[in-house]
Amino acid sequence: MSGTNSQDRLAINQDRLWVSLMALAEVGSYIDGRSGLRGVNRLALTDAEAEGRRLVIRWMREAGLRVRVDEFGNVYGRREGLLADAPPVLVGSHIDSVATAGAFDGCLGVLGGIEMARILNEHKVLTDHPIEVAFFTEEEGVRFGTDMLGSAVAAGRIPLDEALLRADVTGITVGAELERLGFRGTAPARLAAPHAYVECHIEQGPVLSAAGRELGVVTGVQAISWQELTLFGKSAHAGTTPMELRHDAGLAAAMITLKLHEMVDSGKYGDLRVTVGRNDTYPNLINIVPARVVCTVDLRNPSETYMQAAEEELRRYLEVVTAKTGVQITPKQTAKTPPVEFHDDVENVISEEIDTVGLSQMRLLSGAGHDAGEITALCPTAMVFVPGEYDGISHNPREYSTPEACANGINILTAVVRRLAAKDSL
Ligand code: GLV
Ligand code: MN
Ligand code: MN
Repeated sequence: MSGTNSQDRLAINQDRLWVSLMALAEVGSYIDGRSGLRGVNRLALTDAEAEGRRLVIRWMREAGLRVRVDEFGNVYGRREGLLADAPPVLVGSHIDSVATAGAFDGCLGVLGGIEMARILNEHKVLTDHPIEVAFFTEEEGVRFGTDMLGSAVAAGRIPLDEALLRADVTGITVGAELERLGFRGTAPARLAAPHAYVECHIEQGPVLSAAGRELGVVTGVQAISWQELTLFGKSAHAGTTPMELRHDAGLAAAMITLKLHEMVDSGKYGDLRVTVGRNDTYPNLINIVPARVVCTVDLRNPSETYMQAAEEELRRYLEVVTAKTGVQITPKQTAKTPPVEFHDDVENVISEEIDTVGLSQMRLLSGAGHDAGEITALCPTAMVFVPGEYDGISHNPREYSTPEACANGINILTAVVRRLAAKDSL
C-alpha cells in the first residue's frame, strides 16, 4: 500500500472546522428549559433539517465539491481524482439529529469531510481516486422509525420504494417530505461500490475518556433491534372499576420494561442493553385506566446469538402479559441490524496514522449505530472515534467534544483518506 510520509502531513484548520460545527448547530437550535443549555432539534426532513442541508450543500460547493442528490435525499459532494473512472473514497455521516441533540453526532463526520476537501484544495493535493463526502437521510430513525435508513437504501439492504413509504407518527411519509422540501434527487439511490468508506464520529459513550485515549479505532457495530409495541387495553374509571375487571395497558407496558431489565440482570443474554425510550399512553389522564400504550423497545447486543435469544424471550413474554392482563399486544419490528465487523486493512491504516502523529488510541466496538455499518456491505470500511466529554453523554445538549479532539479526528481522517485514495491502496 502506498502512503503519505510525515513531510507532507496536512493539518486541517481547527478553527474553521469548529466554526462550521457551531454554525450548523444554530440550525434547529433550542434552549433546554431545565438546563438552559442550547440543544439541537433537527429531525430528518423537517424544515430545520432542510435548512441544514442547504447550508452544508453550500459549504460543499464552496469547497469545490460537485454535489448530487439521490432519489432518497442522500447527498454526495465529489472531488475528482486523477483516475477518472476509479471508485471514490467515501467519507461521511449524517446531519439529521434526535430531538434533544448536541452539535457533534454525525455533523463532525460530514463537516470534517468538507474541511478535509478545503485543506486538500489549499495544498493543491491531487489524489488518484476521487473523494466523496456524503450525508445520509434519516440516520437517527427517530422520525420515521428506522435508523440508518438512507445508508441502508444506498447499500441495498432496504428497497427504495419501501423506504419512501416509511411514515412518521402523523402519517407523513419520507417520500412526501422529500418532494415537499425539494430533496427527491435524480441520482440513483443504490450506490455503486466505493473504493473504501471512512467515518469520523464522536464516540457518544464513556470508553475513550475513561481509558484516557485520544482517539478510537472502531472495529464494528453491535447488533440493533427496534420494535414498536402497541398495547390495546380497555379504558375504565380509576375509582369505580374493580382491579380484577381491568385491562390496563399501562400495567402491561410496565411489566415489559421490568422484564427486559430482569433479562439483563439474568446474565443469560451476554452484554444485552435494553431501553424503553418511548411510552405514549392514551388517554394519559390521572383518573382513567390506560386504554392504549405505544412503546418502543431498543435492544443492543454485540452477539447475534444472544440478540436472537433475547428477542425470542421477549416474544414469549408478550404472550404472558396478554394472559395476565387481557391486554392485546401488536409488535412491529421497525429496525434490525446484525453486528457488523469493519475491515482490518482500513482499521490498520487508521491505527498506523494515529501512531505516526503520536496520539494515544484504542480499538473499540461501537455501541451506537452508524451509516458505516451499512456501507460496509459495499466496500472496505472503518471508523475513527473522538472522545466526548462528561462521560461521553450524547443525544443530549450536553454532548461535547473539544475543538482539539475534533481536529485530531479529522486530521487522521484526512491522512487515512489520502492513503486510501492512492492508486495501489487496499
Ligand atoms: C444512533 O444514534 C443509535 O441510536 O445508535
Ligand atoms: Mn450519529
Ligand atoms: Mn445519533
